[in-house]
Amino acid sequence: MTGRARISVPASSGNLGAGFDVFGLAIDVRDEYQFEPAGRDSIEPAGKFLRHVPRDTRRNLAFRAFRSLAPAAAGPYRLRAVREIPPQGGLGGSASAIVGGLVAANHAFGLGLDDDELLRRATHIEGHPDNVAAALLGGLVLTVQSDAALHAVRVPFPSDIGIVVVVPGYHVPTARARAVLPADVSRSDAVANLGRAAMLVAALQTGRYAELRVATQDFLHQPYRAELNPALKPGVQAALDAGAYGAALSGSGPTLIAFAPKDRTMRVAGAMADVAIDASSGCETYVANAAETGAAEMEPLASA
Ligand code: HSE
Repeated sequence: MTGRARISVPASSGNLGAGFDVFGLAIDVRDEYQFEPAGRDSIEPAGKFLRHVPRDTRRNLAFRAFRSLAPAAAGPYRLRAVREIPPQGGLGGSASAIVGGLVAANHAFGLGLDDDELLRRATHIEGHPDNVAAALLGGLVLTVQSDAALHAVRVPFPSDIGIVVVVPGYHVPTARARAVLPADVSRSDAVANLGRAAMLVAALQTGRYAELRVATQDFLHQPYRAELNPALKPGVQAALDAGAYGAALSGSGPTLIAFAPKDRTMRVAGAMADVAIDASSGCETYVANAAETGAAEMEPLASA
């Protein structure tokens, strides 16, 4: 069976401060991946960031993920990739592509893989589970690796919290941001993060949003990544000063994320943008919502 598939996949923010490699939050900025049989393998980029879509099918993550599930006998395919997720880093662009390719192949070839299997495969390609889990399932997802199994639990994110995302003009490759992290951490830092990560979930579930200020603090990765991210410390402080509940590095950066009352989001965005512009050549600012829907199948568009 060879068919077409069009999949919409949200952006995602990993860590949320203390939940290093564990928390992923889907954000309502979405990429799209449409695969259809064609005369030869090809990629047609579209969207705001179309120039960041690799046209080489061997380098394009969505195409590679799609091929990893496609039957050997599947013929050539055209991918139409609509890129709206900012490419600078920290909003799960690679996770979106991987999930988009896998979910598209699952639909196009009628493979019947469940979310656990798709998540396992996506994590294997991405190298860490937080972004791919949120991109696949939507909402706030907690993932835990235990021996061979990957456990993922999705919890709803409160709809009365506004999300501010500020993308500075510099790029920080994830590999570099992971290379600066120490292999071992002290017990006091581990305990500090343990409490804050648990506190973040409790604060969101009980509506005690004031606790997000402490719950978004981190001792395991942000202190080491600050040197790569000049906007991090002043950006978090500016967000808090402007009335955000909490703020953190989004994934491995350079993007920053803040959680704020919905009537404060514009003020928080402006304060963070001022810092990001000081630290770089410019920035992109988004006032967004959490995406309750993860990867979703859409009606394919007519062929060009
Ligand atoms: N949890 C990952 C990291 C996310 O912080 O390295 C990468 O976007």
